[in-house]
Amino acid sequence: MARKILTEPSRTLMEYRLLPGLTTPASTIDSISLQTPLVWPRKALPAPQLRIPIVAAAMQAVSGPRLAITMARLGGVAFLFGSQGSADQAAMVAAVKEADVDSELALLDARGRLLAAAAINTHDYEERLPGLIAAGVDAVCLDSSDGHSFYQGNALRWIAERYPDLHLMGGNVITGRGFDYLVEHGAQAVKVGMGGGSICITQEQKGTGRGLATSVIDVVTARDRHREKTGHHIPIVADGGLGTARDVIVALALGADYVMMGRFFAGVDESPNPVTAVAGRPLKAYWGEGSARAQSWKSLRYNQGLFVEGVEGYVDAIGPLAPLLADTLAKIRAAMSSCGCSSIRQLQEEAELELVSALSIREGEAHDILRLPEGSQ
Ligand code: IMP
Repeated sequence: MARKILTEPSRTLMEYRLLPGLTTPASTIDSISLQTPLVWPRKALPAPQLRIPIVAAAMQAVSGPRLAITMARLGGVAFLFGSQGSADQAAMVAAVKEADVDSELALLDARGRLLAAAAINTHDYEERLPGLIAAGVDAVCLDSSDGHSFYQGNALRWIAERYPDLHLMGGNVITGRGFDYLVEHGAQAVKVGMGGGSICITQEQKGTGRGLATSVIDVVTARDRHREKTGHHIPIVADGGLGTARDVIVALALGADYVMMGRFFAGVDESPNPVTAVAGRPLKAYWGEGSARAQSWKSLRYNQGLFVEGVEGYVDAIGPLAPLLADTLAKIRAAMSSCGCSSIRQLQEEAELELVSALSIREGEAHDILRLPEGSQ
């Protein structure tokens, strides 16, 4: 008999809705702060703060230098993908650090340069890190589809000892035990999610995975327990399957500090791929890091290339990032205002959520009218 058989199904973010709280002058849309900690600092330094609770995924089809520069200018971060040679990745870090800083929102290091973040793997971090550090990388994320491993534990400990100033994230995990393990080994933030990404077939291929809401709840419970013991608030990053403001706000209300998204960014002008017209429709290619296409580099995130855990396809090309992000952040602020919360920390502590039935989700969409396309009048 298995050690544990949970008979309650795991839940996705889409199954939850927020209940409104009392909106006050302190929680009007203009007074809301979306600031959120990138990591828990290792030394007695102030925690580096993101200005928006969204980061871009470490994927070939998403996070090159152009998106990383745009995101840092807008107060976020894009994790430069690790599925490339070390010298190429270090050159991308250098490009971010050399960009000119022209935005008030920009996320900066102590020397006034844009913040740069990169994904690394548990196989070649000893060789890869010196180049990234020489290029000025500020934060690295150990990027694994299953981060609850001895190898990630070793890598975290090695990096934390040798590079105490580097902000170090671990992941992905989907259990409280996974969280405890990574934090014991030096992770200053923990990424959560397995099986939910838009290009992900891990659940189909291996039968492992968990609904992201349940994963976040389990990990946040462990994080809050850890905070009670130590006073350290380790940021939790919800990753895989999020694509809308509605997903983001539910993840934050469940206790995540920020979210990572891939598909959301893949279609913007600043992602690496060119626009391709298919039957007159402008598209951009988007593929998983565990797909055959990404594995042609030598993907170390997934099963050393024995079989694929991701697919490839297209998303609509949707123009520049700034308006998409502004629209998404406006909806997040509006939801926080409805909940009477002026900060993400307050939302994490005071939000009230409810599971909704499939029929109430249907009722929540436009229904029973002949609907006109937006802006057609
Ligand atoms: P999305 O935002 O739903 O497109 O999901 C992006 C996330 O999926 C990434 O941040 C990774 O955690 C995960 N991911 C990326 N590539 C793959 C893959 O090939 N298989 C499974 N998961 C992947």
